[in-house]
Amino acid sequence: MKTHRPSFFTITLVVLLSAVRGESSTDCDFRAIFNFGDSNSDTGGLSAAFGQAPPPHGESFFHGPAGRYCDGRLKIDFMAESLGLPYLSAYLDAVGSNFSHGANFATAGSTIRPQNSTLHQSGFSPISLNVQWYQFNDFHRRSQIFRKQGAVFKQLLPKAEDFSRALYTFDIGQNDLTAGYFLNMSTDEVRAYIPDVLDQFKTVVKYLYGQGGRSFWIHNTGPVGCLPYVMDRLLITAGQVDRAGCANPFNEVAQHFNKKLKEAVAQLRVDLPHAALTYVDVYSVKYTLISRAKQFGFVHPLRACCGHGGKYNYNKQVGCGGKVKINGKEVLVGKPCQDPSVMINWDGVHYTQAANKWVFDRIADGSFSDPPIPLRMACHRHPPS
Ligand SMILES: *[C@@H]1O[C@H](CO)[C@@H](O)[C@H](O)[C@H]1NC(C)=O
Ligand SMILES: *[C@@H]1O[C@H](CO)[C@@H](O)[C@H](O)[C@H]1NC(C)=O
Ligand SMILES: *[C@@H]1O[C@H](CO)[C@@H](O)[C@H](O)[C@H]1NC(C)=O
Repeated sequence: MKTHRPSFFTITLVVLLSAVRGESSTDCDFRAIFNFGDSNSDTGGLSAAFGQAPPPHGESFFHGPAGRYCDGRLKIDFMAESLGLPYLSAYLDAVGSNFSHGANFATAGSTIRPQNSTLHQSGFSPISLNVQWYQFNDFHRRSQIFRKQGAVFKQLLPKAEDFSRALYTFDIGQNDLTAGYFLNMSTDEVRAYIPDVLDQFKTVVKYLYGQGGRSFWIHNTGPVGCLPYVMDRLLITAGQVDRAGCANPFNEVAQHFNKKLKEAVAQLRVDLPHAALTYVDVYSVKYTLISRAKQFGFVHPLRACCGHGGKYNYNKQVGCGGKVKINGKEVLVGKPCQDPSVMINWDGVHYTQAANKWVFDRIADGSFSDPPIPLRMACHRHPPS
């Protein structure tokens, strides 16, 4: 008689499967965050190099300027909080920085591709993603040289093993899209250079992998056509505006970029077999918030909170924290913004702390991720089962 004993093969398979399952449903215990990006996640880089973001930036949470283009915390701050890690010091910040649990290489105005114009000419940061990589590379090497000296260096710099136990986060690409438009390129011309932008993005992710990076959390780019600085600066004609009041052509380019970014991430999964790469659809979350603001307790989704004049309460010449003369009196731009906790747009370019928190709350659990992995499990290649 034939007995139905489980074969060695079946047992091995079951053990393997449960190992995979067990592993992928545990928290990752990230020891550090290394962030790369633009103003959406700059915690002090541009401020350290080119002048502090003035008050009222930072007023809602830090009670003063804190290197962020926001009234308070950014998504990257909420991410650090939720992982039990301190807020990230900007790599460029020479004063008061503590890199024991990571570093932030993002600067406001950063692009993936280096631009052929200065910050003064175009407003784009010279610290493009390739430069952020040079800085990370140097940070990695030198932090270990100094850590060996002990004393305070040991308290301020990450351990060697933390580089592979870190989460590498990205929020960059928005400025690569606007850069072309600000040079008067057509939508077709902007679309045409997106493959080059993403090639350069992939190169940097591969370099980081080469240095031991294994967990990558990649935000796609937001609906840039809903932001006052884009709508104000680039001529929008009737028929180009969608039901939410956003400029369609620019959002379409952002969505095209995101489709290609998702493909680039899929390619990286093939090229980097030991990496966990999570693509996060921040676009959809931001667009939902802007297009259904009222439903979520927000008001005036297309108006800047800290701004001055015009349809969008935004003036390119005098930004948030600047000074204007009203009835002969000098007034700080931003003072009329009473309640940033119900506004989505902070200064015409960036989101308020309240909006950042709202977005973070929706992306943290993996609902908008591919694969659907929560932030705290982003070291796993497969969703929890
Ligand atoms: C800058 O100029 C170089 C040389 O002409 C070109 O290869 C590169 O694509 C340009 N970069 C951008 C962002 O336009
Ligand atoms: C740096 O931050 C870590 C973690 O928050 C803390 O334990 C350490 O004391 C800090 N070091 C200094 C010198 O402040
Ligand atoms: C783009 O076009 C506008 C309007 O014609 C012009 O004022 C501006 O100088 C142009 N910008 C560039 C970078 O060519």
